[in-house]
Amino acid sequence: MLSAVGPPVTVRVPAKINLHLSVGDLRDDGYHDLVTVFQALSIADEVSVTRAVAGAIEPGVAVAGADGVDVSEVPADTTNLAWRAVEALARRVDREPDVRIGLHKAIPVAGGMAGGSADAAGALLAAASLWRVDIGREGLLEIAAEVGSDVAFALHGGTALGTGRGERLVPVLSRHTFHWVVAVADHGLSTPTVFGELDRLRARPEAPRRVGDVEPVLEALASGEARSLALLLGNDLQAAAVSLDPGLRRTLRGGVDAGALAGVVSGSGPTCVFLCDGQDAAVRVAAELAGAGVCRTVRVAHGPVPGARVVDGDGGP
Ligand code: C5P
Repeated sequence: MLSAVGPPVTVRVPAKINLHLSVGDLRDDGYHDLVTVFQALSIADEVSVTRAVAGAIEPGVAVAGADGVDVSEVPADTTNLAWRAVEALARRVDREPDVRIGLHKAIPVAGGMAGGSADAAGALLAAASLWRVDIGREGLLEIAAEVGSDVAFALHGGTALGTGRGERLVPVLSRHTFHWVVAVADHGLSTPTVFGELDRLRARPEAPRRVGDVEPVLEALASGEARSLALLLGNDLQAAAVSLDPGLRRTLRGGVDAGALAGVVSGSGPTCVFLCDGQDAAVRVAAELAGAGVCRTVRVAHGPVPGARVVDGDGGP
């Protein structure tokens, strides 16, 4: 019997940045408690999930990069976080993960923008839609949290306060759109290495200063004032990322010299993000930063944007 090759379900899923990232001490389970404010940006991966068909579509993962995105380090096999997410869903609903996952990546790889987590969230939503799994949003968020600390936020999107490992989320009121310039490095940084470096720095007498309370950040977001928010951007992981990659100092200075209101390392880095006073300003800052030779590529983005959503296909009959 011939099996019909069903249409894929395609999901668009955004990158995240952390406007505020307060890192607690190392826990016994190897993680750190976080208090963080996530924002989803208009840089997105596309994840498509297709039913595997014997002899035609093999189960597995295929990876492609958008213009200028180096995907050579992204595993195109079952170690990919997107595959692990689909496996977790398949286990939950007691079926085989008999799908092919296609990743089209625009989010910088190992850049501190949760690209791997975005792909996991996208694959989870796409597979749930393809299989017509009825576990609700809460069920998906639960699986997402098991797969990785940032996966739940990629489903959630918008602006959110994250606690625990970063997987416990509540939406944050954010007025207006914020305009960002994203400076992508020519290499990645490993998240566990950056957390480990922070632990090492904190064990020294001249430990890096910790970021302040989150409340003023929430107030600035509610006011929608970019200038207020700019004064409050903060990331405890920045000292660790800069310690591992001192060239980031030049990148951070370069963005501010180019006219940004403020800059911060995104998550565990090495991507740096710069808040600008409107869209025109962001375009100007991006042009100047691109010419400064302090990063590999420069992108303009805005946020908040919605979390993972199906953009094509619905699984068919
Ligand atoms: O959860 P995820 O797999 O994304 O985390 C990757 C690594 O980042 C963890 O193994 C841990 O070393 C570090 N991490 C942490 N504390 C967190 C989140 C991540 O130490 N809250």
